[in-house]
Amino acid sequence: MQPIAPLMIEHRLIDKVIAKIEARLSGPSIPVEVVLSVVDFFRTYADACHHGKEEDILFKALETKALKSEDKKLMHELLDEHKNGRAVVKKVLDSVATPAAALKELIGLYPQHIKKEDKVFFIASMNYFDAGEQAKMLTEMNEFDRNFIHDVYKQKVERL
Ligand SMILES: [Fe+2]
Ligand SMILES: [Fe+2]
Repeated sequence: MQPIAPLMIEHRLIDKVIAKIEARLSGPSIPVEVVLSVVDFFRTYADACHHGKEEDILFKALETKALKSEDKKLMHELLDEHKNGRAVVKKVLDSVATPAAALKELIGLYPQHIKKEDKVFFIASMNYFDAGEQAKMLTEMNEFDRNFIHDVYKQKVERL
């Protein structure tokens, strides 16, 4: 399995949340607890867990390679989009009682980001790594996930 496979599988869950938000936006006003669940999903799953693996494992490994200029440019674009995603999720939280505009902005952001990764960047990125390096990255990703839930709750406990 290539290390981009788990990332692509994670994209499918993000797609599902985007579709659910879209459906909610055409219905009655969205309950605060749903908006808070959306914020938690994007902060914990999409950002900390998914972007965490992209940035700390895949992108970090790519930084050790002599990237083609178009790949380097795209990686920086993706990083900027992660940053922008965080800011828009903050907007959703800040407008928790009237979140429609911020949620629309959020669902406008993710599909094109995911498409760029799935169809272009991820595939191009794998050309820089041999089979051994890919296997090592996959192990690192599994390790990241294994520790993830423990780290999340350790941090939550610290904040109590
Ligand atoms: Fe990403
Ligand atoms: Fe992604």
